[in-house]
Amino acid sequence: MTKDSDAVVRSKFGPAAADYATSEVHAKGESLARIVELVAPQKTWVALDVATGAGHTAAVFAPHVATVIASDITDEMLKEAAKLATARGLANMSTATASASALPFPNESFDLVCCRLAAHHFPDLEKFVAEVRRVLKKGGRFALVDNVAPDQERLPGASVSDIDETIRTYNAFEKLRDPSHGFAPPPEHWCDLLRAAGFEIVAHEQMEKELAFEPWVERMRCTPAVIADLKRILDSGPGHLRSFLKPRLDENGALHFTLQELLLVTDRTDPTE
Ligand SMILES: C[S@@+](CC[C@H](N)C(=O)[O-])C[C@H]1O[C@@H](n2cnc3c(N)ncnc32)[C@H](O)[C@@H]1O
Repeated sequence: MTKDSDAVVRSKFGPAAADYATSEVHAKGESLARIVELVAPQKTWVALDVATGAGHTAAVFAPHVATVIASDITDEMLKEAAKLATARGLANMSTATASASALPFPNESFDLVCCRLAAHHFPDLEKFVAEVRRVLKKGGRFALVDNVAPDQERLPGASVSDIDETIRTYNAFEKLRDPSHGFAPPPEHWCDLLRAAGFEIVAHEQMEKELAFEPWVERMRCTPAVIADLKRILDSGPGHLRSFLKPRLDENGALHFTLQELLLVTDRTDPTE
């Protein structure tokens, strides 16, 4: 199952690696600077970026820590990350092949683990979180940024079953565009998962992110049929899903919509002996 999903991820992200190097939402998204502020990294820290893609998150942390490993399962992405490190003169940023479900690092290796805009691809979120905790030093920090599904706050007035249905239709919308999409849960699911795994939440924010539809479908090389289906959903799909995604045309007639990014900073907790 994991091997299959890794193969789907590589087949989608390998050919798209160069596009992720320049993608506005990945290279310049608001969450990039904000997560560094929230984490407050220290110059002595050893850091790991999981599912680094083209390396943007590892590269923003690099100037603030001793070393950072940019890791991913897609070789083409690691090449982009290495190019970025060279271009910015980041001698303390290296790359490593690593699956989020089986991080190839000893226990208690890192002061900081981060993961941005990637966890919704992982086949098993509990396993990922357990791996993060294992490789973190006691008291170490884990920073997560990811797209999340709607909750009551984003869909005021919707019933619990309407929200559950919109969580399902939102994930189906994402999976139609990118078959390597796994599951993006609502924010509270992440908080519960992390607390249950032995993390204390020290910062919790959510931000809206505007997506331009055309580059979003181009990055994943969607077929014309898939593009038409996605447009149909934005135009006349389920009402609660459209309330969540807020599709709109800009002054040039280009289609845009909104996604929600969750930012969580958490610390590994250990029972006192
Ligand atoms: C959207 S990109 C990451 C963006 C990047 N973190 C950033 O901040 O710009 C998603 C990345 O997740 C990686 N990925 C997906 N599933 C993975 C897994 N199970 N283990 C490790 N990396 C994975 C993909 O190869 C891809 O490079």
